[in-house]
Amino acid sequence: MDTFDAAQNLQWTESHMPLMKEIASEFADTQPFRGIRIGVSLHLEVKTAVLVLALARGGADVVAAGNYGTTRDDMVALLREKGIDARGSGSDSREEHLATVQSVVESRPDVLLDNGADLVKLAIDLDVPVLGATEETTSGHMRLTTELAEVVSVPVIVINDSPLKAIVENKHAVGQSVYESFCRLTNLMPQSRSMLVVGYGWCGRGIAHYARANGAHVCVAEVDEIKALEAAVDGFRVGSVEEMIGGVDVVITATGFQNVVGESAITRMRDGVLLANAGHFDWEIDLGAIDALTVERTPLGHTIERHVLNDGRTLDVIARGRMMNLAGPQPKGNSIESMDLGFAMQALSLERIVREHDNLPSGAQPVPDDINRELARRFVEAMQNSVGNGKGNETSLSANTQE
Ligand code: NAI
Repeated sequence: MDTFDAAQNLQWTESHMPLMKEIASEFADTQPFRGIRIGVSLHLEVKTAVLVLALARGGADVVAAGNYGTTRDDMVALLREKGIDARGSGSDSREEHLATVQSVVESRPDVLLDNGADLVKLAIDLDVPVLGATEETTSGHMRLTTELAEVVSVPVIVINDSPLKAIVENKHAVGQSVYESFCRLTNLMPQSRSMLVVGYGWCGRGIAHYARANGAHVCVAEVDEIKALEAAVDGFRVGSVEEMIGGVDVVITATGFQNVVGESAITRMRDGVLLANAGHFDWEIDLGAIDALTVERTPLGHTIERHVLNDGRTLDVIARGRMMNLAGPQPKGNSIESMDLGFAMQALSLERIVREHDNLPSGAQPVPDDINRELARRFVEAMQNSVGNGKGNETSLSANTQE
């Protein structure tokens, strides 16, 4: 994709990020980041570009690096054209990538926008003083509350812990993108298939509901009694993985835990089962156990591999158990609107860090409740104002009636 396409892509994305548009315009007036350098480490792609540009409009001097292997070179080029110090390339080796991330901290930022606590850790190691940080992920939260808990002396607002993210991204955006990915990667129709969703947490709920809404016959495996009850009253058949797996054609895991589809489940699977994962780590399906039973492994298409087992059954595995909604050609990730909300939380939390760092406790902490509520209100309002919804129709209906 050349720079021209990247600009169009940015324009399309920006036009569907109403919260960020509003925040960028507020930042342009209030200049909360004037004189502040923000060090960023986040997947550098089109939605992140919208966030970075909004921070710059608020007066920030942004120095941005991507994550290993996911940097979009066209977006880096476009951001540079717009005066942002965007660093790194999608083709960088791991060593080059780590050097780029380190160079962000060496640029002596005042605040950090972090992903996995890498920048916070480096700032501590390199003795670079910062006012505070925001952190995008669960894995960053884990590091901040374990290995870094004793040494973090500044406030770090963790975006992942917000209920807004759980509802809009983990439930709805993952539900949508996993369904889209199933169709994109397999080109199969879900209506004729029975599907087991493993885990009925935020992501599992979304996956189960979106799949059922599109005609799949869905059942759920869940170890938590209360979530199992919720799945049951939501109308799904519920049991353990071992109890349910023998009756399904498709299995999608979304737990965050290792080997939830393990050896005993593999022995019970039907011939021809399709296995996929939506959890963060590629360890939910025990591929070691599958490989040990495999006599022949054939790649089919971009991302699917067929395993012929020693008892004659076949299993098809998507992307070797990596996150299916980021796998294969043209993965979209989660919806633009869900990232609009997530990045709006990032932007307002960074503003809070800059303005209030002296009054905030040090260490990992949730997004302040007033920011959650303000953004929930704005998100609902933006949805109500979108073209073609009930409210718009009511207006035009009453206008027609008056005519
Ligand atoms: P959650 O904590 O809300 O839900 C996980 C559920 O799995 C819990 O209800 C738990 O009881 C259940 N579980 C654990 N072990 C199980 C087992 N052996 N059998 C059946 N159920 C089991 O977590 P959430 O938010 O749903 O996230 C799940 C995973 O998805 C995490 O790894 C998270 O990082 C990842 N994630 C992926 C995204 C994507 O775009 N693909 C986006 C957001 C999160």
